[in-house]
Amino acid sequence: MDPALTSPRSAGASADVTSASSAAGAGTGARPGRIRDYFEGRAPNWIRLTSDEPVSGVRRIVREGRDAMAGTLLSWIPGGEGRSVLDAGCGPGEVSLRMARRGLTVTGVEIAPTLAASARERVEAAGLAGRVTIHEGDASDAPGGPWQHVLIMDVLFHYPPGEAIRMLTGFAERADESLLFTLAPRTVLLSVLGGVGVLFPRRDRAPAIRPVRVGRFLERLLADPGMSGWAVGRQHRVSTGFYFSHAVELRRTGAGGRRT
Ligand SMILES: C[S@@+](CC[C@H](N)C(=O)[O-])C[C@H]1O[C@@H](n2cnc3c(N)ncnc32)[C@H](O)[C@@H]1O
Repeated sequence: MDPALTSPRSAGASADVTSASSAAGAGTGARPGRIRDYFEGRAPNWIRLTSDEPVSGVRRIVREGRDAMAGTLLSWIPGGEGRSVLDAGCGPGEVSLRMARRGLTVTGVEIAPTLAASARERVEAAGLAGRVTIHEGDASDAPGGPWQHVLIMDVLFHYPPGEAIRMLTGFAERADESLLFTLAPRTVLLSVLGGVGVLFPRRDRAPAIRPVRVGRFLERLLADPGMSGWAVGRQHRVSTGFYFSHAVELRRTGAGGRRT
């Protein structure tokens, strides 16, 4: 099983897959334990995937795709001392560290204890403890803020759309400038392949992936009263064969919905 693999297989396709619907609720207080347990159980895979250790096959392709996606997301955040970012669902801290190296002040929040501990260790080892604070827990309850930017990379994949929208509206309340997040895009091709169910050996299927139609998701999100004053900015899709992720930038326009 590859932890970062975005598979077109819908949730529940195999016993090795934590179903998104059953995982739904992390971030809303309903059933946060399932997602935490899933990632906690696979923490070594994630730590390795986000390290410099060699990986092969599907994992290498996923790593390359994630690296490209992180690069895009980071390019959407202006660098500079004192700028603040919440890295919601920071995993072992790979992207938090990349942001800190660009001078950003980062709050990372991770629900899986082993991954949060790994992120802390990496921050210490990099000598960046002054710039990155890691909390263990549900990112929706992240302490501190507001932040100028909230980054949610490859986390919403695991939530059904209604839960993802609730999480995003919550983060919007606490973001001054932008929300940057990725979605698992549902495409016609992937739907067909997913339906055929031939793509991946069982061990390589991702957990809890809920692909969405991006346009429809964004319409629904922006129709939420909590998103008043926000607009879609840049978008970018990475498709590397085994990693499919669609990045969205939402920017505060200043009109309406201002955080108090
Ligand atoms: C696919 S990993 C991505 C990690 C990191 N964002 C990255 O791209 O390297 C998703 C992470 O989100 C975490 N996560 C999921 N729901 C969360 C929540 N509500 N609060 C905090 N962390 C969460 C998981 O434990 C997992 O480590």
